[in-house]
Amino acid sequence: MALTKQKIGADYDEALRVIAPMFGLREMASPIPRFELADSDMPADAAYQLIHDELQLDGTPVLNLASFVTTWMEPQADKLCIEVAGKNFIDQEEYPATNKIEQRCISIIADLFHATAEGERAIGTSTIGSSEAIHLCGLAMKRNWINRQAAKGADTSRPNLVMSAAVHVTWEKFCRYFDVECRERPLAEGRYVIDPEDAMAACDENTIGVVGILGTTYTGHFEPIKDLNDALVALNDRTGWQIALHVDAASGGFVAPFAYPDLEWDFRLPSVRSINVSGHKYGLVYPGVGWAIWREAGDLPQELIFHDSYLGNDQSTFDLNFSKPSASIIGQYYNFVRLGRAGYTAVMSNLLETYGFLDETVHSRGRCEVLSESGNLPVLCVRLTPDLQASAHDVAHHLRQRGWIVPAYSMPPAVEDMTVLRCVVREGFSRDLGDQLLEALNDVIRELEKNPPARPKPRRRSKQRVC
Ligand SMILES: Cc1ncc(COP(=O)(O)O)c(C=O)c1O
Repeated sequence: MALTKQKIGADYDEALRVIAPMFGLREMASPIPRFELADSDMPADAAYQLIHDELQLDGTPVLNLASFVTTWMEPQADKLCIEVAGKNFIDQEEYPATNKIEQRCISIIADLFHATAEGERAIGTSTIGSSEAIHLCGLAMKRNWINRQAAKGADTSRPNLVMSAAVHVTWEKFCRYFDVECRERPLAEGRYVIDPEDAMAACDENTIGVVGILGTTYTGHFEPIKDLNDALVALNDRTGWQIALHVDAASGGFVAPFAYPDLEWDFRLPSVRSINVSGHKYGLVYPGVGWAIWREAGDLPQELIFHDSYLGNDQSTFDLNFSKPSASIIGQYYNFVRLGRAGYTAVMSNLLETYGFLDETVHSRGRCEVLSESGNLPVLCVRLTPDLQASAHDVAHHLRQRGWIVPAYSMPPAVEDMTVLRCVVREGFSRDLGDQLLEALNDVIRELEKNPPARPKPRRRSKQRVC
């Protein structure tokens, strides 16, 4: 018997809600207000379906080779993350076990980075990502410098920070938000990292620190941290300036300890006073978790640590925001317990092998020049050979039509005329997918050779946001 309005009258809508198939519901046929709150409610399943379907318009995370951020975790980790979804991390008094787990993660990371342990407590904090950690480490460097200058009766009004032009935009933000002069040193054709000598020449008595990047966002290269350290030791000895070295190990911090354990880039070097690392990159955790670690207590000025008791006992914090989720911290601990050194080493070695395969194959096909190099992050960065009548942006656009998300962007100042494509090889990207990516790249290049774009689209030349 067909259900009709005439037969059941005023209860028609309600009856339809209960028995109608999902796409028989009126919510599926009428627009939902997008920019103001609807007057009425809707069934939970319908709300879920509508939002779930709209999200299909996003790219596929596993094919998103633009991002360094984890897109896959084990189902047991998913389960734990959902279990703690309702726990606000800041409620330390209410969730003491979560708090202890954060402290354990800090100790594990500090140990991986060869920090000197302070009794039982390593010096560090979880953050939302490397960006927050960078702001915190930058603030600590600035405050330490102010304290040193004030003790000498010297000027404290013009702090500066020295770094390469390959820095992530967060460093520029830090400098602008916290009134620090940003001294970016240019790259050069064939050198996509900082030049230590040039960096030292940019330092003076107002330099709060020098930043070295363990895995640049642009090409994945490790900056020469040991050379920066040695140069800074010599400079500080000569001038008495005490300039700190900070390592932005957003990506490399969870690659180097496992893939290159003998590489000296961390607290083994005396000038390294603080390190940031993203748990949600090669720490293999969903977004958002990062870590800020200091060499020793004296590197984190006490006046930056806040004590409050809103939530019960006295708790001390150094962060930019108050409430935050617990899930990624628990996810990080899951990985530490589950993987141990052996598991992380196995993952990193597979990723580097896949990188090696991509590098070799792309190089041998001759249409791209590989700028990235093995011995660094498993990140493939290429530029097209000049004889191809198409731009990197055209290639990225055509790959996107096939589902692959591969960013094209200009390099930083001094080499900004170079436009490159980048693929981040991260967990979830298998050798098999690598094969398929190369096949797609080959097809796209052949297609563009046959039908070159009428005119390459003009692109912005100023520094782009690369993430
Ligand atoms: C070198 C570097 N530093 C900092 C960041 C910012 O990290 P997050 O996304 O964890 O805030 C990134 C992000 O890609 C990065 O590559």
